[in-house]
Order: sequence, then C-alpha cells, then structure tokens
Amino acid sequence: MVDADDILAGLGVEEKISLLVGAGLSRIVLGAAGDTRSIARLGIPGIVLCDGPAGVRIHPLRLGDARKYYVISFPNEILLASSWNLDLVRSVGRAIGEEARFFGIDVMLAPGLNMHRLPIGGRVFEYFSEDPLLSGEMASAYVEGVQSTGVGATLKHFVAHEQEANRLLINVVVSERALREIYLKPFEIAVRRARPWAVMAAYNKLNGKYCTQNPWLLTKVLREEWGYDGLVMTDWFAGDNSVEQILSGIDLIMPGSDETVARLVEAYRKGVISDEIINLRARKVLELVLKSPRYRGLGGYRDLDFEGHARIAYEAAVEGVVLLKNDGALPLSGKPCLALFGRGSYWTVKGGLGSGDSYPRYVVSIADGLKERGVLVDEEVERIYRSLTHRFYELGESVSVYRRLREKALAETDARLLGALLTQYFDAIVEYMRVMHLQEDPFTDDLLEKVAERCNAAVITISRISTEGFDRFPVKGDYYLRDDELSLISRVSGAFHKHGKRVIVVLNIPSPIDITSWRDLVDAILVLWLPGQEAGRALADILLGKVSPSGKLPLTWPKDLYETPAMRTYPGTPRENPVGVVYSEDIYLGYRYYDTFALEPAYEFGYGLSYTAFEYRDLEVKLDGESVIARLRVVNKGPYPGKEVVQIYVKAPGSGVYRPLQELKGFYKTKLLESGEGEDIEVKIPLEMLAMFSGGKWVVEGGVYEIRVGASSRDIRLKTTLEIPGIICYDASWNKTAC
Ligand code: BGC
Repeated sequence: MVDADDILAGLGVEEKISLLVGAGLSRIVLGAAGDTRSIARLGIPGIVLCDGPAGVRIHPLRLGDARKYYVISFPNEILLASSWNLDLVRSVGRAIGEEARFFGIDVMLAPGLNMHRLPIGGRVFEYFSEDPLLSGEMASAYVEGVQSTGVGATLKHFVAHEQEANRLLINVVVSERALREIYLKPFEIAVRRARPWAVMAAYNKLNGKYCTQNPWLLTKVLREEWGYDGLVMTDWFAGDNSVEQILSGIDLIMPGSDETVARLVEAYRKGVISDEIINLRARKVLELVLKSPRYRGLGGYRDLDFEGHARIAYEAAVEGVVLLKNDGALPLSGKPCLALFGRGSYWTVKGGLGSGDSYPRYVVSIADGLKERGVLVDEEVERIYRSLTHRFYELGESVSVYRRLREKALAETDARLLGALLTQYFDAIVEYMRVMHLQEDPFTDDLLEKVAERCNAAVITISRISTEGFDRFPVKGDYYLRDDELSLISRVSGAFHKHGKRVIVVLNIPSPIDITSWRDLVDAILVLWLPGQEAGRALADILLGKVSPSGKLPLTWPKDLYETPAMRTYPGTPRENPVGVVYSEDIYLGYRYYDTFALEPAYEFGYGLSYTAFEYRDLEVKLDGESVIARLRVVNKGPYPGKEVVQIYVKAPGSGVYRPLQELKGFYKTKLLESGEGEDIEVKIPLEMLAMFSGGKWVVEGGVYEIRVGASSRDIRLKTTLEIPGIICYDASWNKTAC
C-alpha cells in the first residue's frame, strides 16, 4: 500500500505546495464548499469538502443532469444537544456520513463546537451548548458517526468564534484559563476521543493573532499538547497572510486560488518557508486524500435508505423538543380540533441559513404534521394565514434568485463574483427575516370568539430564523416579540381562556427569544428549535402525547437579554465596526455565571419538563482508581412512558482560587422507562475532568467535593460528598506532574 511519504518522494516542490491550497469552490459536486487540488500524473484526486452540520449541504441541481439530488435535513445542533442522547447523535452522524458518501463527498465540514455565549449569536443554532462537556461529548458522537462511514469530519471553528459581528477580523481577548476550561475544552475532548480527520481554524483573532496564523493555537496546543495528527484547514477566505498560515500550522488554505499558490512558491524561493514545513503540511493533505472515499474508490452506496434517514431525523427532533411550561394543557387528548396561529404553523422553519443550510425534498410543517395524525386544523384560521403570505412568497422568491446566482458563482468558482453575490445574498436574507415578521394578528374579536368556541385548543407558533454572517438583532421582531405577536398571544389567550380552553405556544427558533413578557399568559410552551424536515411530525407526536418530551436546555435562558454577561462587551469596541471584544465574564459562562452569582434565569441550564415524573434514589459515589463512579436509580413514577436526562454536577472544595459554584461533569439519558419502571445508572467521571487550569497546569484540588445529581442545574435531587485525598497536577498533555 502506498503511503503519503512514498507519494511525497515523487513530488516536485511546486506540486507539494499546490497541495496546500484548495482548488476553489467545488467543481466536482455543485454546492459543496470546496475541493483540494489533484495531481493527475500520480492519480491523486481532488477531494470534496462539504458543509453541514444539519445535513449534506449540496445543491439539488447538477449541470447537465435532469435529476434532483435532495438530502435529508436533520435538526440543528442546538436541538441535537437538547436531546442529551449520544447514541442518537451518533446515528445522525452516521446517516449524514452515508449521504455524504452517496453524493461523492469526502470530508464533512461539521460539527461546529463553539460555545453558546450570546443568546443572539448568529450561529448558536449550529453549535451544541454553553457547557464544554456537553459540547465535547456531542461533537465526539457526531464525529464517530460520520467517520464510521469512511467519510471525514471537521471540528470547527477553532477557536473562540462565538459572534458573527465582524467575524472576519474581530480580536477575541480571553484569559488562558477561560480558554482552556471553556472554549478549547470541547475541541480537546473531541480530538482526544473521536480523532476527527480535520480541524478548521476560525476567522477571528485570538488574543491579537488570527486563529489561522496562530502557532500557539495550531501547533503548540493542538498538535504538541493534544497529540492531534489530522489535518488543519482555514475557514473560507480567513486571515490575511497565507505564508504565515502555513508557517503557523495550517496544512490546507481554503478555498484557495492560484495567486495563493504563487505567493507560497515565492516565499519558498526566498527561504521563508522550508522544505521541512512543506513536507510536513503536504503529508497531512496526502494522508487525508489517501483516507478519502474518492481515493479508495469506495464510491457511493448503491441504494441509500433515505426513508430510514428521515426516521432518524424524526427521532432526533422528537428527543430534542423541550417542554418549558405545562399547566395541565398537554398532552392533548383524542383527536382534537386545533386552531393554529402564527405563520410558522404553516411555514415551519426547518433550519438556519448560510453554510449550515441544507436542501431536502420536503419539510413537514406543523399543520401538515398534525393533519397527518388525524387532527382537525381550523380551516378559517389557516386560510387567513395563507392569504396573508403572498408577499412572503414574493420575497422568498427573491432569496431564491440570489441563491441561484450564488450557486452559479460557486459553479464558476469566481471568488470575486461570489463575494459580490454573497453580499446580495445576505441582503436578501435580511429582507427575508424582515418578511418573516409580517403582521401575525389580523383577527377581529368576533372571529377569535367564534374560533375559541369551536376549537379544543390554540397553538401559536412563533418563528425566527438565523444565519452565519450576522448575529440576531436585540430588537422587536427578533429577540423581542413584535407588538402584533404579543397582541396575538394575549388576544388568543383571552378568547380561549374565556371558554376554558388551553393555549400552547411553540417556539420555532434558532436560539432564545424574550419569554418573560408573555409566558404567564399561556398554558404551555414547547421549544421546537430548528428541527429539520420532520418538524411537524415530531411536534404532533409530542402534542398528542404519543411521546413524552425528554429534551433539556443545553444553555441558560435569560430573563433579560442584557443580564447575559457577554452582552456587557458585545459586539466589542468601537461599537460601530468593532475590532476587539473582551470575554470579560472569563470562566463564568452560562450557568457558571448565574449559579455563582445567584441570578435567576427564566429557565436554567439542563431544564425541561416531561409528561411523567421521575424519582431519583440510592446515590452512591466512590473513588475508583483514576475515576469517580456515581451510581443511582431512576424510577418513572408518573403515568406516561418517558426518558430522563440525569445530570451530575460537581462543586469543588473551597480554595484560594475562584471557581464556579458547580460544573457539569457527567450525564446520562435513560432508556424509555414505562410507568413504574426503573433503571440503574452508572456514570464514570475521570479525575482529570475535575481539574481547573491554574499556574500553567491542570490541578485537581484535594479536599471534599460535593456531588450533586439533578434533573436540571437547579433541580438537584440527590447530593453526597467525596474526598479526594490530595492535590493532583497534570501538564497540558495530561501527564502527571509535580504540583
Ligand atoms: C463558514 C464555515 C463553512 C465555510 C465553507 C464559512 O463561511 O464559516 O463554517 O464551513 O464557509 O462553506
């Protein structure tokens, strides 16, 4: 078998350099994000890199081919993390990997594992959580799933890429401790556990240096300390100096251009880049190519079980729906007649826009999902929304015009044209978002009265959309509800409550919105997130009680947006066109902040209701070699079958060093427990996980730790203590070292 070194030995230096630079936006598969360069004389193919994470982001059209190539749209990452179900996420990853191979993709540009730092972050939907353990575990499962099919996965965006505002040049200023414990941690977990084929360095600067031009990040931390041996690529058009990128640890510059190749060749001739560096980087590219389905001639699968994949998308969506409030309204009984308010009931938003988009054959709206399950949907209300939305269609059409232009630019790999079109495309998206905000409350009092009389309950859907390139806006119509949305909620609630009927709000959103101004008006609130193409089916089965909700929040839902500590410095300075942002909350991200400083969120991290009730008992915790083992029993004491997410938080002993009140160190999702059924649970927490980063090393303090087992971060059901006899220290590669 040839290996990368055999091939390297036969290459001229310019050929090697050409391997370090992508071949532009993909010519091989329309809509894929890029290809590597081929070397035809040696049979080295260009391989195809394609976006995710919510599905394989190819364009349905292929030049000269009348067929359409649709993929399955899976739920966005924030929903996957809300399921807390690693096996499920592994199966989503596997399905995406299979589709990737089927469509001729070699490497998926997913998952995203930046942190949920800002509720209005433009890409929060593409990331898992505010907690590094949950993010790292989710990402590992996703990568394992994708890579089990012989397709590569890419961790992105490395690192501290939490805002879209000025993302191409913003300098993120963050302490090394917060970096190590919070922002680098999920990458570290996934690199060590799942061995991803690739890592994508982020657009932003980190403490003064572009991530793509940062030897500390790319070489010292990633490769030397963590032992990463895969490929590192740039984000698309990232940074400002390709020579520095190659010197700092980038193996592959994407999407690449001939000018970049020429610049690198010139730097080589001047002795700025050595043969050693070129060999090192080209070897990584060749190793990636040699592993790829295209090189190995694996080809696609002949038949792919798309229906099976749609079922996986459905199962994932069901498990990630979070029930925030339920004053006896849910589940609905029988086959009720429902009045569906809100445009999102008929045009449910399946996913975010930008590179995290995907093009499925269909999206099941909430209305269609309910009708499929035999629910009677009030026709008059439906007709009114449908007649209101013709303008929505017109503007939706203008987005698709830009989309088509963009794809043309992609096909022609004309970067300048693409840049111009991207601007237009984003303008169109802004317009699209504005249109999503068309009047939602066109009803007269009389009509609402009649509808409340004849229907069993009301479902009001509030939808929002998000995209890369912008953060969401802290204004009415985006983070806040518009006046017509608020009046819809209060008028529908008034009318239905008068008749003793219930009102349920469904949040079809990419990340939190204001909830405190209206939540007391309604009887139940479900968060559907951006659930992929099976949206309506998943929601219908939860509303009708076929499945009990088992999702829990992977982030803190603030009472007030401006209580989120990150909002203090957002979007950075200067406020117009910011060039730098300080992560001034340091390690106190999300619940670490709310818990330590005793602030009440609207809904805490890990929160989510069920139709049934679980009892926690018999907690035992012991130290077993290098691990803490926690055992307990969970019993379903309620009337419905259901699954529970058990969360294990650890409170470190008080010491001279500031630490969060508690941190998530383990979790477990039970199997489906029938009423009365129990499950014995064991969670293993490696001692390393208890460490903080202090004085340049990882330190596990000696002393008494509190182990807190909860149904959420604030609903702690069982507690015990555990003594770690003495201090333990590790170096950055986790070798034990003197303290
Ligand atoms: C995004 C990446 C994506 C790349 C290729 C960039 O704009 O930040 O997440 O993988 O484009 O489409």
